[in-house]
Amino acid sequence: MLTKWAVPSLKSFADITTERAALGRLTTFGVGGPADILIEPRSIDELSGVMAALNDAALPWRILGGGSNLLVSDDGVRGAVIRLRGDFAGLEFDGARVTAGAAVPLARLVDECAKKGLSGVEGLVGIPGTVGGALVMNAGGRWARIGNVVESVSVLAKSASGGVRLLGRCDAGFAYRHSALGNEVILGATLALCPVDAATVAETMRGYLDQKRQTQDLGARSAGCAFKNPADGPSAGALIDRAGLKEACIGGAKVSSVHANFIINAGSATARDVSALIRLIQAKVLEHSGVSLELEVQLW
Ligand code: EPU
Repeated sequence: MLTKWAVPSLKSFADITTERAALGRLTTFGVGGPADILIEPRSIDELSGVMAALNDAALPWRILGGGSNLLVSDDGVRGAVIRLRGDFAGLEFDGARVTAGAAVPLARLVDECAKKGLSGVEGLVGIPGTVGGALVMNAGGRWARIGNVVESVSVLAKSASGGVRLLGRCDAGFAYRHSALGNEVILGATLALCPVDAATVAETMRGYLDQKRQTQDLGARSAGCAFKNPADGPSAGALIDRAGLKEACIGGAKVSSVHANFIINAGSATARDVSALIRLIQAKVLEHSGVSLELEVQLW
């Protein structure tokens, strides 16, 4: 197993490194084992130093965002997990533009834009996670997708060579719950918003949140919608519901009674329980309606 002393060049990052770091508490599902090491860089310099050390030693590593669309295996993750902090949690306004670091909670971005009377991200209200994670997945819903308001995204290649690059919206390849940013480390993004007034944005947000509260299990421990909606035909939630799976349980994992595309940790779920329920749902929906549901949740 990797320890922080296994790679001599990682020693200089000992103060931002935790061994056998429990990952479950860093995810909204609240399940999963530890990462061999968790490294939390606070600046671009620290991040590129850490990436270079890990790449030189040919050690596997991945980036953790807000852990809100993620199922971590009970065995945890071998190698390093990088979680951005410090400088990456900054938010800066310039007229109707906002530049947000990858580690900024999406909810904070949405709130601050609303307070400033800037419209464009209010439709993301109620979505957990960080700006970085939202960009990779092109987070959104009926009212908005983050990719639609992106002006540019700043990234570092995973090879850690080549320095910081600025990608325009078209280069980021946004599509439904997808982007072309998976091979990059996202540092932050600039969003172009529209000035309106704070009261209008606040009222719109309240309306969206009310609708969400009525139709989604927002308080439960879950990763939001587990499956992507098929390109045509009924939504994943409707298909799972029609297959009679609301409230189906395996161990501590349960299909929500409010929204069938939400798998919730009803108390003491393990990642194995959640995975088994995912497979059961896929099999039953295929049998019932002939549709193969594609996972939206990332598996580690
Ligand atoms: N439905 C059912 N039973 C259910 C759930 C839904 O019959 O248990 C029906 C609803 O009545 C409705 C249709 O399915 O006719 C669609 O449901 P809903 O309006 O709740 O939206 P959704 O397509 O299930 C999508 C996103 C959500 C996003 C909402 C609102 C996906 C996979 N899901 O849900 O995103 O919040 O729209 O904008 O695209 C997420 O990705 O994690 C997520 C929660």
